[in-house]
Amino acid sequence: MKVQKYCFHLFLLTLLILPIYATDIEGKPDVRDKNGWKKIKNIEDPYVKGIADFALFESNKRSNFNLLFEGVLRGQTRDSNGTYYRLVVAAKNGAHTRNYRAVVFEQPWADLRKLIYLTSFNKH
Ligand SMILES: *[C@@H]1O[C@H](CO)[C@@H](O)[C@H](O)[C@H]1NC(C)=O
Repeated sequence: MKVQKYCFHLFLLTLLILPIYATDIEGKPDVRDKNGWKKIKNIEDPYVKGIADFALFESNKRSNFNLLFEGVLRGQTRDSNGTYYRLVVAAKNGAHTRNYRAVVFEQPWADLRKLIYLTSFNKH
């Protein structure tokens, strides 16, 4: 009886400690929202900048604008047979800097990168 109780406590302790370890390994837990979007931790990542550049380049090709990259403000990714990048990108349109929401889909193994959409928005 005593041993059983001890084991049970050990079990509870494991339940408490494991999540902490899982959280500590990468510094932060992999938080996903209910649709599976995960925050990009390193917004300065050159790879993320490359995705933003691609989105602006593709958008410029399709429109009369000539948006110039200023910075990536924040972003999220979602994996689904590839990776969706949902970024907030600051870009210069003529004299004005605005924020743009860009969604890019990528399958690196298939050498595929696709702009889903890019749209401006006013609020941060
Ligand atoms: C994943 O994408 C590839 C195209 O690169 C497609 O051929 C394949 O059917 C897709 N798989 C799923 C599970 O959607």
